[in-house]
Amino acid sequence: MNIILLGPPGAGKGTQAQRLVSERGMVQLSTGDMLREAVAAGTPVGLQAKAIMAAGELVSDAIVSALIGERLDSSAGRGAIFDGFPRTQPQAEALEILLGERGRALDSVIELDVDEDALVERITGRFSCAECGTGYHDRFKQPKVEGTCDVCGSHEFKRRPDDNEATVRTRMAEYRAKTAPILPFYEARGLVRRVDGMASVEEVAGQIDAILDGA
Ligand code: AP5
Ligand code: ZN
Repeated sequence: MNIILLGPPGAGKGTQAQRLVSERGMVQLSTGDMLREAVAAGTPVGLQAKAIMAAGELVSDAIVSALIGERLDSSAGRGAIFDGFPRTQPQAEALEILLGERGRALDSVIELDVDEDALVERITGRFSCAECGTGYHDRFKQPKVEGTCDVCGSHEFKRRPDDNEATVRTRMAEYRAKTAPILPFYEARGLVRRVDGMASVEEVAGQIDAILDGA
């Protein structure tokens, strides 16, 4: 099963993808995570992407499509969760070619339907474990023991440099201008399923599970 999680910044794509990885053994393919790794490693791609990401704008289609192409085979036989990709029409077309070349296809495009104003609070309160990447939130999901990661026990946490309000507003504008317009491409293929992204994490998970299990 190969699915796209589609929604604006803070919609819950990463949260739900991490859960599907641990519960279903699927593979999360997040272009945001791949780009952040490239920035941290100081690769040529990272050097190009750093300022663009800090401004909340989109990195070039060629770069992100190549990143997905490099990692796609790691999900063969397990199923891919595309998280934050595709974000433009050319990326949607590139994904079709990449999957088609491998005899694979998309099963669903799950759109997380959200109220953008509420997302600013979600994003500016977000932090994650510096060791294993597990996501947390100041209000919605604190570690069970204060200052200690639930998963790996680390005491180091980090926040993303693009999680400030001004950059979040730019990221949302980019979503409206360039990403939301790809929905008709998938609607024409009968692939789009909407879930209420404003419900609790558990309720959103239940709605996604119902789609994946064909209920
Ligand atoms: P990327 O890393 O993809 O960021 P994004 O799309 O802005 O998405 P986020 O990671 O901010 O949000 P999310 O939907 O995963 O929400 P989360 O689950 O964390 O991209 C970053 C940058 O990289 C881009 O701006 C661009 O520059 C570049 N880039 C990446 N991909 C690209 C591409 N394909 N093309 C070009 N450029 C690209 O949830 C947010 C918070 O809310 C968390 O704290 C969580 O705990 C909480 N939360 C989640 N669900 C709920 C809920 N139901 N109720 C309450 N709280 C919740
Ligand atoms: Zn951890």
